[in-house]
Amino acid sequence: MALLKCTDLTLGYENIVLTEHLDFEVNAGEYWCITGENGTGKSTFMKTILGLRKPLAGTISYGDGLEKNKIGYLPQQTQLQKDFPASVTEVVISGFQGKTGLRPFYTKEEKAGALKNMERLGIEDLSKRCYRELSGGQQQRVLLARALCATGKILLLDEPVTGLDPKATEELYELIKKLNREDKITIIMITHDVEAPRKYATHVMNFGEKITKEEISSGRYMV
Ligand SMILES: Nc1ncnc2c1ncn2[C@@H]1O[C@H](COP(=O)(O)OP(=O)(O)O)[C@@H](O)[C@H]1O
Ligand SMILES: [Mg+2]
Repeated sequence: MALLKCTDLTLGYENIVLTEHLDFEVNAGEYWCITGENGTGKSTFMKTILGLRKPLAGTISYGDGLEKNKIGYLPQQTQLQKDFPASVTEVVISGFQGKTGLRPFYTKEEKAGALKNMERLGIEDLSKRCYRELSGGQQQRVLLARALCATGKILLLDEPVTGLDPKATEELYELIKKLNREDKITIIMITHDVEAPRKYATHVMNFGEKITKEEISSGRYMV
């Protein structure tokens, strides 16, 4: 069964419909790129998958052992988040919060898991540093490590390279590729980059365009 199955999904808010009739499945190991103009509902789509918003119509079902609270999420960054006054370890380990519920401390396993994810992304040397003093590329790696604490299956990445220089962009893309190819983590990534879909994606979906079911199920179509 698919990890995610969207059936006749309509996304929007009280007084605006952003996207209608989204019908597709995401299977384990795939790498989806979501493109589209600003304001077309890409971030809303991710929040809906996470269960933070309800769709206006249609359903999302979770399969293949995926639970809604075990989805890794790297949100679109705002200036306020870039100035977050916490250590790198604190930011990374907070990725376990979906699993801790109301428990007010982290377990030994969670502390070890946070360290492992920092090592995976080559940021263990930064663990005691203050998050807001890091470069943009380092901050995004911290947030990727945080997202990994929530999941072993799927990452939702909302514009992870926006604002990064070309070298940091390339490094982050390579890390994401490694997580996908070697660790078999499914990726759904929103990007404005035109190269990334061509280079990394198995599937590309452009928001704000009418797309037929056949085009989506054929796997790959470029815009
Ligand atoms: N909480 C909200 N309430 C009402 N409208 C919203 C809300 N959040 C976003 N929108 C509107 O929905 C549209 C799509 O937003 P968003 O999903 O962030 O688009 P994208 O990520 O594609 O740029 C925007 O026009 C935005 O103004
Ligand atoms: Mg957005």
